[in-house]
Amino acid sequence: MDKKLIVANWKCNPTTFKKAELLFDLIKKGLKNIKNVEVVICPPFVYLTTINKKRETSIKTGGQDCFWKKKGPFTGEVSPDMLKDLGCRYVIIGHSERRRYFSETDTMINKKLKLTLKKKLKPILCIDKISQVKKDLKGISRGEIKNIVLAYEPLFAIGTGKTASPEKAAEFNLSIKRILGDKVLILYGGSVSSKNARGFIQESGFQGLLIGGASLRAKEFIRIVKNIDSLR
Ligand code: 13P
Repeated sequence: MDKKLIVANWKCNPTTFKKAELLFDLIKKGLKNIKNVEVVICPPFVYLTTINKKRETSIKTGGQDCFWKKKGPFTGEVSPDMLKDLGCRYVIIGHSERRRYFSETDTMINKKLKLTLKKKLKPILCIDKISQVKKDLKGISRGEIKNIVLAYEPLFAIGTGKTASPEKAAEFNLSIKRILGDKVLILYGGSVSSKNARGFIQESGFQGLLIGGASLRAKEFIRIVKNIDSLR
């Protein structure tokens, strides 16, 4: 079985450095013998330095966003080079919360994708509609698309406890593969828990998960990763 990818998106949590450190320590301790899953933790930027120092090579890290320029007078922004320099391998791009609360457009997302690919940082592109795929990936070659991870996050499922049905999710998965080929890795995100995680992999055919709320509860997150790790 190919390794599955499980990404923890901590979003704007936890509120203190101490809590972030504790959460990471618990997760790291609980995931010592994981073989079939690559785990990526995406904490707020301010915790990345410490977490990158503490992590072992089996756990990877990522940013929750980045800018489309490598440096300069862009107050508040963080560049792909900066993330790479800290040891991050991944970066989430185009999360629906960025599109919604920070007015990120497909054009901005497209520029971010191009720079992260150039810098060899793996983007995790979040979408909730098929129509976003073409706009977000405009001008990006087939060869480069293989280096992008896609995450299907239906809006109604984010933080609501509701999930897409396995059939609907599978349909979305297939539609993306029809457009981008079957080499592209696709994650499911939206109210993932230890109760439903396996279904998205086994029934809907996703290669991994993007987890928000449940990744802030160490025991639950560890349970999800172990559930997927034990799949045959
Ligand atoms: P929840 O798992 O809290 O629904 O969040 C999903 C998400 O937005 C991950 O990026």
